[in-house]
Amino acid sequence: MFFMLRKAFVRHYLIKSMKSFKPNEKIKDNAYIGSIEKYNEIYDYSIKNPEGFWAEQAERISWFKKWGKVWNWDFNKAEISWFEGAKLNACYNCVDRHVENGFGNETALIWEGNNSSENRKLTYDDLLREVQLAANSLKDLGVAKGDRVCIYMQMIPELTIALLACARIGAVHSVVFGAFSPDSLESRINDSECKVLVTQDAGVRGTKTDIPMKKNADETLKNTPSIEKVLVVRRTGSPTEMIRGRDVWWHEAMESADSLCEPEIMDAEDPLFILYTSGSTGKPKGVMHTTGGYMVYTSTTHHYIFDYKPGEIYWCTADIGWITGHSYIVYGPMANRAVTMMFEGVPNYPDYGRFWEIIEKHKVNIFYTAPTALRALMKEGDNWPKKYNLESLRLLGTVGEPIKEPEWMWYHSVIGNERCPIVDTWWQTETGGIMITPLPGVTETEPGSATRPFFGILPQLVDDEGNVLEGNNVEGNLVMERPWPSIMRTVYGDHQRFFDTYFSRFPGKYFSGDGCKRDEKGYYWITGRVDDVIIVSGHNLGTAEIEGSIGRHPDVAEAAVVGYPHEIKGNSIYAFVTLRTGRKITEKTKSEIAKIVRADIGPHATPEKIQFTEGLPKTRSGKIMRRILRNIASDNVDNLGDISTLADPSVVESLVSERI
Ligand code: WT7
Repeated sequence: MFFMLRKAFVRHYLIKSMKSFKPNEKIKDNAYIGSIEKYNEIYDYSIKNPEGFWAEQAERISWFKKWGKVWNWDFNKAEISWFEGAKLNACYNCVDRHVENGFGNETALIWEGNNSSENRKLTYDDLLREVQLAANSLKDLGVAKGDRVCIYMQMIPELTIALLACARIGAVHSVVFGAFSPDSLESRINDSECKVLVTQDAGVRGTKTDIPMKKNADETLKNTPSIEKVLVVRRTGSPTEMIRGRDVWWHEAMESADSLCEPEIMDAEDPLFILYTSGSTGKPKGVMHTTGGYMVYTSTTHHYIFDYKPGEIYWCTADIGWITGHSYIVYGPMANRAVTMMFEGVPNYPDYGRFWEIIEKHKVNIFYTAPTALRALMKEGDNWPKKYNLESLRLLGTVGEPIKEPEWMWYHSVIGNERCPIVDTWWQTETGGIMITPLPGVTETEPGSATRPFFGILPQLVDDEGNVLEGNNVEGNLVMERPWPSIMRTVYGDHQRFFDTYFSRFPGKYFSGDGCKRDEKGYYWITGRVDDVIIVSGHNLGTAEIEGSIGRHPDVAEAAVVGYPHEIKGNSIYAFVTLRTGRKITEKTKSEIAKIVRADIGPHATPEKIQFTEGLPKTRSGKIMRRILRNIASDNVDNLGDISTLADPSVVESLVSERI
């Protein structure tokens, strides 16, 4: 029902492209797959014989001990395991084995600082040394296998080192994006009862040269009883208060740490990390990923989708605070012995040419970024990219939200010079790795389509009643029929919520929360979320979380938050707010509300528009009809759909006339 009503709206702005681009011959000749026939053959095999296929792919990982059974699963109980009983260590796979194989003096990590004068290169030898010291530092602070370590940092090399150090000793890392507020950090630390926090004195990003990371953390730490120690990296040298007995400088800990640290032997199903993502209730979900399947899937996808060849310079611009950074800056590329880049800054500092300058400077071959960044850069004109030599680029990628034709075409012609394939990769925090994507040299691409499923992935479209929509030219809810190795295993501490969120809406299937269309060629077109999640600049935000935050303002009675299309950010946040009786509507109330949200969640969650209203459109059972609000916010007022089921249809009129 919900979906049917939304369909018209989705159609409205999903303008199907007529353009298509064949893989060029040069790419084809050198690609690992290189022809649609070969893709079809491997895909069919991966579907007919998933255990055989994944057992073969698992060979790219070094195991201390092999598995008994490849998989075990029951979506009706939300139970999934891969390679159970097998033993491995993720850090060993990303670092040690490359050194043992004689590649120790090859570059592992290129770090580009916020200012282009600041650069660091770490070889696999360097990484092995640093990671062992960091791992022993964590051990010295009392961290043991299974303990949770929260990491709250900006994009500096120590962030990558901290992840790998946790993996090495079997500690479960929980990275909290560095722009999150102290309150968001607090709830995430408390939810998984982290024992140690790793942070930095201050951060540097764009024109901001003193982002108070440690100060924010101190604010948080007043209310996080589980944290025993805090490890602080010195990035800026800003004056920093260190609490005796609790806070330890990273460099001092490293100096006194033992230089040798054996990697812990982990089961394939031991947790590797937790990463929080927004959901349909106010409380973020601790998405838990385990070790074996995650490593197999991220390395396999990185290998085929980025078609990575030894020595190539690979740059994913995501922040490690998000899943993209976990899977495609750290674990996938490093398992494949790639040269992976990390960038501390922002695309518009010191000017809009920064990305292109970095590509020229480091001769980047593979570039993976977000549509929101492309839109922002495209707006500034072609002269920025034209100033730089981008000939090193071979392959381009996008992730995070649907990419529309204008920015796809700009990426293709201005950045890729019509030479580079674009892989539009669809996936989620929950999926751990890329699920639907073109393959370079294989797939004929169409702007805006993520095209075909990766090996082993069996997507289905179902209508709102759960009926499977067979054949092509259909549109429905995107579900997965069976697991893949890097599917999340649980919501930390709340398995019921895992089941309820992903497996209850369509019994026996994993529900992605996305709407999707399959066209006449069998290509998939993601049409956006069909649940209460809004994607702003590629960041996943839950409406309930923002509404809860707005509700903390003493004058607010009720709030409903929806997304509406935004030129750069993809979506922006529109809040409809009802005040308590007798409270006055003032500009001050508005700015106070914005301030609360910024403080509670972070700047990316701040509503762009706030409309005060006498009432919200509700069904007789009291459920807010967001569809109506969404249409009002998107200025789609002629298309509000059926409002007859509202308890009081008259509220709609004033909502429309008072629209901002
Ligand atoms: C949601 C997941 C996975 C990394 C970043 C986001 C949207 C993601 C695409 C794409 C259209 C996309 C979906 C998805 N999304 N990639 N290529 N085309 N939509 O991770 O924060 O977990 O968000 O991002 O709506 O469900 P996330």
